[in-house]
Amino acid sequence: MPDDVSSRGFAARSTTEGRSPVDSTPETPAVERAPVDSTPEETPVVERAPVDSTPETPVVERAQRDETPGETPVVERAQRDETPEETPVVERAQRDETPDVSGRLVLIAGATSASGLAAARALTSAGARVIAVGRDAERLEALAAALRQAQGPGGQGPGGHGPQGPGGPEVSTEVCDLTDEAAVSALAERVHAEHGPVDGVLHLVGGWRGGGGLAGQSDADFRFLERTLTALRHVSRAFDEDLRASTAGRLAVVSSTAVARPLAGGAGYAAVKAATEAWTRAVAQGFAKAARDAGEPLRAASVVFRVTSLAGLEERLAEAFTGLWGQPAADVNDTVIDLTRS
Ligand SMILES: NC(=O)c1ccc[n+]([C@@H]2O[C@H](COP(=O)([O-])OP(=O)(O)OC[C@H]3O[C@@H](n4cnc5c(N)ncnc54)[C@H](OP(=O)(O)O)[C@@H]3O)[C@@H](O)[C@H]2O)c1
Repeated sequence: MPDDVSSRGFAARSTTEGRSPVDSTPETPAVERAPVDSTPEETPVVERAPVDSTPETPVVERAQRDETPGETPVVERAQRDETPEETPVVERAQRDETPDVSGRLVLIAGATSASGLAAARALTSAGARVIAVGRDAERLEALAAALRQAQGPGGQGPGGHGPQGPGGPEVSTEVCDLTDEAAVSALAERVHAEHGPVDGVLHLVGGWRGGGGLAGQSDADFRFLERTLTALRHVSRAFDEDLRASTAGRLAVVSSTAVARPLAGGAGYAAVKAATEAWTRAVAQGFAKAARDAGEPLRAASVVFRVTSLAGLEERLAEAFTGLWGQPAADVNDTVIDLTRS
């Protein structure tokens, strides 16, 4: 990890190989943007997903429940979460301790975009160690350099001494194509050997293609779009054990408000994001089940963030992700958080 690499800058939004021209605009173009604000009742700021311990609940029912959050009011969720036979008082007390992000090892999957830089900066400023993963070594080096330049040797601006101590922000870079299963397994081995188990994963691999109504939803575009889900599947499986074993494991993905209001011209994109949310919620159920089976308090959380466009929300995302360590896992596991409203 070089100490001083000249910054190539991250002000511009990153581009992804093979991305369509619409890609330079927000993932959900204004013309196709769902009228989210006109249907606030469909998407509360924080939606609690259906009870993770009831996998027998039919899919249709769950979907209906998701779109009518009024059926699952906060008080009901609290009662459900504190079912005495499931969670003894002592365990609840332990669960309520809010963990600290300082010293945690967090992997950013697809770290070289503006949102990756913002997240890495927020995490290292809070004292976390970051492993930034991307496909391009030069872009990763530029990210590391930008972090060092922004935070200075001590992490609080040039010359400062932040939580990282005098060594500066702790960021390592890893080149890996996250859509390659074997490459992700090798990445996990390297990370474990060099740094140990991870406490957090922020999945940022994305990209937009679409337009042209339903007829325009080509296979080629779908293959492009599904890479984000493929990468998530690989990364979450490779580090699932780490996250469940951590005293505060956190995994998050960035989905889209298009899931709540899919449009014909973005059908492929919305479908992939919906699948991404389903996968992330399945991870959440795995966390809850593992804790329950072990008779231990829930310490890991898997969370979906939703945005319409990330442009201008990179810092908010970074803060929201870092802030997951300031909340008990049981409060945030299996939640959908709409960042456009918070
Ligand atoms: N941008 C928006 O307006 C918007 C809207 C809604 C949701 N989202 C979601 O928010 C997340 C972050 O968005 P973003 O625009 O910051 O992401 P992005 O630029 O699409 O992707 C983030 C990074 O992932 C890396 N990447 C792509 N494919 C990879 C692979 N196979 N293996 C490893 N790294 C890979 C790219 O870096 P390299 O090319 O250097 O590898 C890229 O810089 C995404 O999941 C996106 O779908 C974004």
